[in-house]
Amino acid sequence: MKGTKEGLVFEHLLQPGRIGQITTKNRIRFAPQITNMCDPETGEVTEREINYLVEKAKGGAGIVTAQGGYVQPLGKGYPRQMAMDRDENIPGLRRLATAIKDHGAMAMCQIMHVGRLAHPKYAGLDEMPVGPTAMEPMIPRFEPCREISREEIREIVRLHGEAARRGKEAGFEAVDICGINGYFIHSFLCAWSNKRTDEYGGSVENRARVCLEIIEAVRAAVGPDYPILLRLNATDLKNGGSPEEEYTRIALMCQEAGVDALSATVGMYESDLPAITSDIKPGHWLYLAENWKKAGVKVPIMMAYRMSRAEVAEKAIAEGIIDFWEMMRPLMADPYIPRKLEEGRPEDIALCVACNYGCFVPAESAQACTMNPRFGKEGDESLLIKPAPVKRKVLVAGGGPAGMEAARVAALRGHEVTLYEKGDRLGGQLNLLATTPNWEEWADVAKYFVTQVKKAGVKVVLGREVTAELVEREGPDRVIIATGPVLDVPDVPGVHGKNVVSVFDVLAEKADVGRRVAVWGGRHFAVYTADKLAARGKEVTLLTDLPKWGRGISPTIIIGYKIRFRMIGLNALRNAELERITDTGVVVTHKGEEKAFDVDTVVIATVRRNRGLAERLGVEKDFIAGDCRAPRRVFSAVHEGYDAGLKA
Ligand SMILES: Cc1cc2nc3c(=O)[nH]c(=O)nc-3n(C[C@H](O)[C@H](O)[C@H](O)COP(=O)(O)OP(=O)(O)OC[C@H]3O[C@@H](n4cnc5c(N)ncnc54)[C@H](O)[C@@H]3O)c2cc1C
Ligand SMILES: Cc1cc2nc3c(=O)[nH]c(=O)nc-3n(C[C@H](O)[C@H](O)[C@H](O)COP(=O)(O)O)c2cc1C
Ligand code: SF4
Repeated sequence: MKGTKEGLVFEHLLQPGRIGQITTKNRIRFAPQITNMCDPETGEVTEREINYLVEKAKGGAGIVTAQGGYVQPLGKGYPRQMAMDRDENIPGLRRLATAIKDHGAMAMCQIMHVGRLAHPKYAGLDEMPVGPTAMEPMIPRFEPCREISREEIREIVRLHGEAARRGKEAGFEAVDICGINGYFIHSFLCAWSNKRTDEYGGSVENRARVCLEIIEAVRAAVGPDYPILLRLNATDLKNGGSPEEEYTRIALMCQEAGVDALSATVGMYESDLPAITSDIKPGHWLYLAENWKKAGVKVPIMMAYRMSRAEVAEKAIAEGIIDFWEMMRPLMADPYIPRKLEEGRPEDIALCVACNYGCFVPAESAQACTMNPRFGKEGDESLLIKPAPVKRKVLVAGGGPAGMEAARVAALRGHEVTLYEKGDRLGGQLNLLATTPNWEEWADVAKYFVTQVKKAGVKVVLGREVTAELVEREGPDRVIIATGPVLDVPDVPGVHGKNVVSVFDVLAEKADVGRRVAVWGGRHFAVYTADKLAARGKEVTLLTDLPKWGRGISPTIIIGYKIRFRMIGLNALRNAELERITDTGVVVTHKGEEKAFDVDTVVIATVRRNRGLAERLGVEKDFIAGDCRAPRRVFSAVHEGYDAGLKA
């Protein structure tokens, strides 16, 4: 049966849906994503943007939404954001809408004004952003905003209608109004950012006025039968923000005003709590949609926000909590999720675990994705996995993500691939990372790679260390080295004492750790190890010579650790020089003074590259992948593994 695997049936996700007058082929929507791939000067749609969204349509999403298009230059928030503010944009928008539809998805556009979070300089304007109330930014990358006048509000309302008209003329089949995230509409809805005393501030009816006027203007522009969706916050996660009950009331008001569907969203830039980090379990926010349903919302509701698991979405639709499954990051990681569900192979889904690494980057930087080396390069034929012209015997050393990805890709190209892992199972550091709090899903990523390696026909040899002699004996045509990092043991007195253990042994439960522990290291594995030990009731001190602890962790994630460490009283010292380890503890120099910490165990959590084997064998750089090249992240492991597999 289609859409069935291991007892999981995705019939609700895969059944047709309806928004207004339009039927969608399934209940899966790619949520809007500013990709920063449009023309920086004109905001015109580029081929790269088209290729990106076509990939989502090819992957089977029933609805593919284009990124928020700015309705006015003053409402532009990103350097390469798509423009919808001029009729000249229509031909480019038409090429995009047509390409999406040609690949079988419903094409939806989104209109957006980012209000007080704008960067007018990106549109060549020397002006301040506008918001309901003048305010200083809470986040340094934003600017102070000035209070918008009533005349300007009316103009922006009108411009939303104009932008929606352009979307319709370009052939988009529905329009999404962006009412979230602290942007223009939401800044009025949210009591924290709206302190106005006129008819646009104060009561919930007044704060909702802009939103309702925009819905009215859009409806007037697109006509009675054209589907309108509104993305609306269901919670602000902000002290001083609007209560959830108010958003439920606003959802009902918007339904009354004629929207055909609602997308329930969570949080804003300035939220006090995280909304989409890995500590939020898939499905956590569904109660918000359920509240809307219980309060009488009858139009279809959709929801993203860590809805990364098909089985969670399937159940939520089956139970009537939501009507459509929205995803942004999960479809960044794997655009082919819908197709894989349809074909009954959910085990082939490359899972987004909310590492927030490539997708949360400064506005000026290019986005990327840990799990998807082809992200943003969908039109680059050279990155497709195609049959190799010459079939080779390929030996891969190391069964972490880099080695597994290299082996998978090389095998899919038709090579005869053997993957050697010196340990007793594949996965490498993913198996260790997955034992730390809130990162359990990396175990599923490891499982995904193991499955793919097997399906691709790779021969796996466990418990065998690759040496120069083994390579000579096997005589492969190509060797790929992906042996991961080695522990970087600091050269200080006492480092070989019985009370000193390796981070790898601690995580693998192979080392005894006393009650009081010092972790030496400041990068992700040191921080997560400290967290794991603290969660087990140990008294932990994190010591690093780095100027900041947490290097390599996304700012969206590090904030959670800072809060947690403060709450549990985990001591973290940076800019410390390790001096010596004694029987009773560890001594560092900090700001020119020696400091001693009495601990039972010292965990060495610093690593370095591991190129010995590659150098002995004379392996070229292109075939050295992941942390053995330089200790970094899963991102570099997967991407370099993919490249090595393509070149093998
Ligand atoms: C606690 C912890 C937290 C982390 N946090 C993050 C994070 O938040 N985000 C992130 O992106 N990354 C994180 N990382 C790092 C990430 O796991 C690594 O960057 C990634 O696993 C590197 O992949 P790799 O394949 O290059 O090496 P590894 O995963 O180290 O795999 C190498 C494999 O090669 C095997 N091997 C070694 N020598 C040989 C040999 N001669 N022959 C055969 N096999 C051999 C090893 O046994 C191992 O299985 C973390 C790691 C840890 C331990
Ligand atoms: C890089 C990036 C760009 C985004 N761009 C938009 C956008 O243009 N319009 C919008 O409504 N939401 C935007 N969002 C929010 C996403 O659509 C989505 O709601 C959010 O990422 C949570 O869903 P997820 O867990 O499926 O990623 C963006 C999010 C990110 C990380
Ligand atoms: S970079 Fe990480 S969080 Fe972002 S989409 Fe890719 S897998 Fe998901």
